[in-house]
Amino acid sequence: MRPILRPGRWILQRLRPPPLGWHDLGALTPPLLFFGGPYSNLHATTALAKHASTLGIAGSSCICTGDVVAYGAHPQETVGVLRELGCHVVGGNCEEAFSSRSADCGCGFAEGSRCDILSARWMDYTRRNLDDDACAWMSTLPSDIRFSVGGVNFFATHGAPSQVNRFVFDSTDASVKLRECANAEADVIIAGHCGLPFTNEIGTSIWHNPGVIGLPANDGTPRTWFSTLSEDEDGLRLETTPLDYDHTAAQTQMRQAGLPEEYAATLSTGLWDNCEILPAAETRAQGTALTAISIALPARRRPSKISPFAGA
Ligand SMILES: [Fe+2]
Repeated sequence: MRPILRPGRWILQRLRPPPLGWHDLGALTPPLLFFGGPYSNLHATTALAKHASTLGIAGSSCICTGDVVAYGAHPQETVGVLRELGCHVVGGNCEEAFSSRSADCGCGFAEGSRCDILSARWMDYTRRNLDDDACAWMSTLPSDIRFSVGGVNFFATHGAPSQVNRFVFDSTDASVKLRECANAEADVIIAGHCGLPFTNEIGTSIWHNPGVIGLPANDGTPRTWFSTLSEDEDGLRLETTPLDYDHTAAQTQMRQAGLPEEYAATLSTGLWDNCEILPAAETRAQGTALTAISIALPARRRPSKISPFAGA
C-alpha cells in the first residue's frame, strides 16, 4: 500500500517534513497488537512475533511505533523479522537517521550527555551491520499511521504527531497530550519513543504508549512491554502485557559484539544506565516493577472523521 499525502493545516504544522506522510489503514478489526522500540533486539522481536501468533493476531494486525534498530546486536536480522511478519511500522527517528545516513540518531539526547556519547558507538555498529536494502525499506515507512476501530479514531506515531522525537511521558502535562490529539484529529494516540509504557485517559481522549520490546522499562525487571486491543460485548479493551524473552542470550551477543555495556547490563537488571531523559516523576519510579493495565474504551467515542480515506 502506498502512503497518502494530504495537504492541510495539520501537515503544515509539523515540525519536521514527513518523509512519506501518514498512512491510512482504514477500518481495522480487532484484535490488534501494538509495540515499539525493537532496538535491534532480535530475541525480543522473535518472541513478540511468536506471541502474536499464539494470540492469533496476524502480522498485518500488528503496528510498531518505530525505532526498529538501535542498541542491540542484530539490526539487520530484526528488520528481517519485522518485514517477514508483515506488520505496519511507523518510521521513528532511528529509521530517519539510518535511511538518510545521518551521523545523529535524532533521539533528542542533550549534546554531551551519556546517551549522546553512547549513541555514537551503537550507531557505528548499526551502520556497519545494516545493508542498503534495509535502509531503503526504512525510507519507505510512513511518519504516522491512521486507522479506526469501531468508530474510534487511532493515530500511531513515534514521539508525537507534531515532532518525531518529542518525549511524552505519563507525567507530561495533559494539555500537551490533548493538543496533540486535537491536531491529529485522533481519539487515541498510540505513541512510542520515550521507552516507558503508560496510558492516560484525558477527557474523551487517550494517550497510550505500549512500551518498547527492545529494552526493559527501567522497572527493575528484564521484562519488556507491548499491548493489545481486543473487543468483547462491552466494547474495546486496551491491555498492556509484559514480554518475557531470552534476554540472557541477547545480552551475551551484545557483549560479544562490543556494544556498550551500559545497555547490555540493562537487559538483565531492568534498570537504565541513567535517567537523563526522564522527568522527576519517572526518575523517582526507577526500579518499581510495573503492573499490566486493562482499560475499556467506549465502542464509539464519536463519528469517524476519516472514513472517506479508508482502504487506502
Ligand atoms: Fe525514538
